[in-house]
Amino acid sequence: MDLTGARVVVTGGSRGIGAALAAQFAAVGARPVVVARDARTLDEVAQRVGGVAWPADLTDRQQVSGLIGRIEAEHGPVDVLVNNAGVENVGALLEHQDAQIEALYRLNLVAPVQLCRQVLPGMLERRTGHIVNVSSLAAYSAFPGMAIYGSSKAGLTQFTAGLAADLRGRPVGTTVVELGPTSTAMLDRVLAYAPTADSFARFYQLRLLADLSAEAVARATVYAVRTGRRHVRLPRRAAVAAQLAAAPRRTTEWLLTGVAHQQRG
Ligand SMILES: NC(=O)c1ccc[n+]([C@@H]2O[C@H](COP(=O)([O-])OP(=O)(O)OC[C@H]3O[C@@H](n4cnc5c(N)ncnc54)[C@H](OP(=O)(O)O)[C@@H]3O)[C@@H](O)[C@H]2O)c1
Repeated sequence: MDLTGARVVVTGGSRGIGAALAAQFAAVGARPVVVARDARTLDEVAQRVGGVAWPADLTDRQQVSGLIGRIEAEHGPVDVLVNNAGVENVGALLEHQDAQIEALYRLNLVAPVQLCRQVLPGMLERRTGHIVNVSSLAAYSAFPGMAIYGSSKAGLTQFTAGLAADLRGRPVGTTVVELGPTSTAMLDRVLAYAPTADSFARFYQLRLLADLSAEAVARATVYAVRTGRRHVRLPRRAAVAAQLAAAPRRTTEWLLTGVAHQQRG
């Protein structure tokens, strides 16, 4: 996809991976709209990348409802949607309150699904568009303290695969980004919980994990959108786990090759 002048919505665009994504999309000529709660940091990013700040709390049902329509009414059609906003809430299940658990699933899974549903009709009508969902290697590997987070990302990975099946043969692409530890505030919070930090330490020791930079993740993701790649799996040394876990899905896709679907809508 040619990103020159493309309108790209990046959720969680105020810092970390989202801010790096906004900068990288801008660097190839796209026009980012960054979405997050903190209006001040959002404004700073928007100014830096020549984009637009759109403050919103994506755990709030009412703020998510009709969000893409409101952005499009002010800034024109959305060509690329990047569902990047996420929260980790690392800790044992019994340490979590119900409201916290619900907010995590809303942000990490429900809002991305709803934003996809909002953005797709316009993309299909214009016969162009791309959706990126930022998931995690925690979708495949079970680390202590990450049961809720990992299950939300497993849902997002599986949702993206199902969406790609729905969109087969249609002019809208999908990319799922599956990441290991990336140097952001989120990783600092994850490593502050001893059971998770101890498990990660074993993987670092065995050289199965190495921290990524947000900029490297952003470069690989923007490249994937430009070239229509369906997967970004980093670090490369851990990608084999994701490939093995995805094998049944790939087998289904392969078995369905040549089966024509009657698409509705
Ligand atoms: N860092 C890692 O090691 C790692 C590894 C694998 C996957 N990931 C995934 O990568 C994505 C980005 O993570 P990150 O490391 O960049 O995290 P981060 O540094 O904590 O940034 C999270 C972003 O999400 C926004 N956000 C949080 N709650 C929100 C809400 N309720 N509504 C709207 N926006 C909200 C934050 O802004 P506000 O607080 O201002 O709202 C911020 O812009 C996440 O989906 C994460 O799960 C990260």
